[in-house]
Amino acid sequence: MPTLGVNIDHIATIRQARMTVEPDPVAAAVLAELAGADGITVHLREDRRHIQERDVRLLRQTVRTHLNLEMAATPEMVDIALDIKPDYVTLVPEKREEITTEGGLDIAGQCDRITQVVATLQGAGIPVSLFIDAELDQIEASQKTTAKFVELHTGRYAEAHGEAEQTEELNYLKEGTKQAISMGLRVNAGHGLTYTNTYPVACIEGMEELNIGHTIVSRAALVGMERAVREMKQVLRGAF
Ligand code: PXP
Repeated sequence: MPTLGVNIDHIATIRQARMTVEPDPVAAAVLAELAGADGITVHLREDRRHIQERDVRLLRQTVRTHLNLEMAATPEMVDIALDIKPDYVTLVPEKREEITTEGGLDIAGQCDRITQVVATLQGAGIPVSLFIDAELDQIEASQKTTAKFVELHTGRYAEAHGEAEQTEELNYLKEGTKQAISMGLRVNAGHGLTYTNTYPVACIEGMEELNIGHTIVSRAALVGMERAVREMKQVLRGAF
């Protein structure tokens, strides 16, 4: 069974909607760990739309499992990672106009640049994972960079329509996992996984960690709704 990295970005999305202090992703990370999360993942985006630098610094001190920092391969982000020293870094593509990470990072098209970033981070003792589509040329290029991990993009699998298309995308992930492992890479996966589509990915042989965020935060909001309303009714009664 792979381990579970809980991505808490969207706790910060709710906070940033009001530019206030709640809900605090640091508190969410503590609760996630108490519930069995094996790791905490955050994406510090260049536009700081959800996670802030303050969050990553505090999480570095409070996370008891491991902290995975997702970031673009830019000089600014590399400096932040070298300073904060997460347990590992996942390099992701980033476009300001996107709603969420849209595709895997094109390693094959910028192998030299990514190799340099990997060398800088891994040279400082921070293992690097590359978020890629499970394509052979991207896996081969990832191996060339000497990154320790790849994270296979599960977005296409998650968006597949119908059983045949989903099976095809799952097979593509299985094949990519096998190829990456045969090249000495360790394999994680994530993006778009939900309570209904995760299990087949969890069963892929050799899969080490799944990074899952939006669906967990969504479910937390709903399963917590009754209690939250009951507590506000108590406030109205002066009983909270
Ligand atoms: N892995 C990577 C590299 C991501 O960029 C994201 C989204 O930030 C996730 C996993 C989690 O995706 P989701 O929120 O859809 O579960």
